[in-house]
Amino acid sequence: MQHDTIAVIDFGGQYAHLIATKIRRRGVRAEIRQPEEPVEAFEGYRGIIISGSPSLASRGEDSQYTKAIYDLKVPILGFCFGHQEIAQHYGGQIEHGGREWGKADLHIESGHPLFRGLEPVEPVWMSHYDSVVSVGSDFEEIGHTITGEASEHRFAAIGSDSLRRYGFQFHPEVDDTVHGDEMIANFVFEICDCAASWSMEQFLDEQIERVREQVGEQSVFLLASGGVDSTVAAVLLGQAIGPGRLHLLHIDNGLMRLHESAHVLRMFTELGLDRNLHFVDAGDTFLKALEGVAEPEVKRRKIGDTFVDVFQNEAKRLGIEHHLLGQGTIYPDTIETGGTQRSDTIKTHHNRVPIIQEMIEASRVVEPLADLYKVEVRELGKRLGIEQRALSRHPFPGPGLGVRLLCSRGVQDREGFETMEPQVEQLAAHYGLQARVLPIRSVGVKADLRAYEHPVLLSGDVGWQVLLDAVSAITAQVPGINRCVWNLGSEHPARATAVEAYTTRDRLDVLREADAIVMEALRRFDLYDDVWQCPTVLVPLSLTDEPGETVIVRPIRSQRAMTATPVELPAVLVSELRDQVLGLDGITALALDVTSKPPGTIEWE
Ligand code: XMP
Repeated sequence: MQHDTIAVIDFGGQYAHLIATKIRRRGVRAEIRQPEEPVEAFEGYRGIIISGSPSLASRGEDSQYTKAIYDLKVPILGFCFGHQEIAQHYGGQIEHGGREWGKADLHIESGHPLFRGLEPVEPVWMSHYDSVVSVGSDFEEIGHTITGEASEHRFAAIGSDSLRRYGFQFHPEVDDTVHGDEMIANFVFEICDCAASWSMEQFLDEQIERVREQVGEQSVFLLASGGVDSTVAAVLLGQAIGPGRLHLLHIDNGLMRLHESAHVLRMFTELGLDRNLHFVDAGDTFLKALEGVAEPEVKRRKIGDTFVDVFQNEAKRLGIEHHLLGQGTIYPDTIETGGTQRSDTIKTHHNRVPIIQEMIEASRVVEPLADLYKVEVRELGKRLGIEQRALSRHPFPGPGLGVRLLCSRGVQDREGFETMEPQVEQLAAHYGLQARVLPIRSVGVKADLRAYEHPVLLSGDVGWQVLLDAVSAITAQVPGINRCVWNLGSEHPARATAVEAYTTRDRLDVLREADAIVMEALRRFDLYDDVWQCPTVLVPLSLTDEPGETVIVRPIRSQRAMTATPVELPAVLVSELRDQVLGLDGITALALDVTSKPPGTIEWE
């Protein structure tokens, strides 16, 4: 190999690719490898990292990988599932239990080179069901964690310097492990002794070259929602093949924000990409496809299929159906769809529906950003000369407000409430809060698996940190709960009732207004750039005696969308939101989503 390179074995954890990205950002090449590849495929690397996984090591799941990697002389570091596999391979034991979600404090035992330059106690991010309970004789514990209220977990970090094998139960690759980058860099530079030689500039040159090779003399038809990703993809493609061979199609699916399409068309014009800029208003077609649909994955599929129908019809109408299809797909879109060999489908992203998959297999799709995360896309956009305002826009999902407008058949979904409710109420009371489990569900992610579970509404005037502690206790200890919201109304509701509601223009209009109010407030309070994304969600849930619905606001901080933490909003802003949102037609309750990801995803569906 020309450059020093690290192999990252992808066991399908949500984060495998993130590990590779973090290594690349330090200027060292990293390549993703599959666990069952022959051992020869792992030769020539300076080191190996074993990712996390949705599988349970305690149950022997996914144990048929190439174990001969352990005979290689290079250093190996495992995260989560990888950590447990390493412990087990060298004589340690693991058990199903000791689970932790979210933040924990890592207490570092020794001045180990993996933790060089770090504090004795470091915040780390956990998401696991299984735990290491003992290690083999060559190994020692180099860190343990304390989560929540003094609950101690042993063997959070283990190592054998003689074997050069190491394991972290936590995920250093996610941004919430504050110095995770340094830990990975310590492995790469101190333990594997790599030299740095990779850069974003080189990546851009390589991509432009790749696009030119793939496209040849053909033209590209790019689906341009106007978000950061499609905008950067458009400019990159324009540079690679010239604006004459690039067609942009913007579809208004009726699930856009207030005045969004007009804004997007203006932006592409200003970017000089209006030579072949096409627009379709397909709001009615999407509404018809969503009639009477309530289940999230079905909604996503309908939106995805309709999207494909609309663009295919439009391509035919314009006579450009034989052009290659361009998309601004970025890496999280593929992984959450179950797009790597082993990852669980958390949500089907619209740019990964079956027809598009077939086109990808036939090499008919151009996706120059498919390896990148949002922060990297923004960095690339800057290099391409795109203005900051366009690059700093909050991410907006392909299915738009469709995934922020929950639907319900009006059935009270109270399965398991008899056991959940007393547990939740008792835990909440411990933190001075009242709680109500809600009879609807939202999508979340626990230990890399999709969790379609209940939210809990918490009421009470406690400090932000106490609130977050209550949320982590409830979501960690009560099975079936993946999310908590904080009631911004004046009283704890005596009941919560799911009301029948589907995707209609009226509901979308109300949600658009609520969303515009929230966005405007974030800008006015100068918080727009500090908050990474802030979905506003309309939930068909009545919390009063009146028949209305509930609005949930979900401000989060994140860097790569794989993990997120909730953001505390200033009291004045909250009070203004309360006045304005509760003044909207049919809205009778307002709450703030206070869940991290995991266990809640950023979007509710
Ligand atoms: P979740 O909700 O999975 O979202 O935590 C992670 C990030 O992805 C965005 N998202 C999507 N983006 N098509 C997209 O292009 C989709 O179908 C989709 N679903 C979620 C979400 O807004 C967040 O930034």
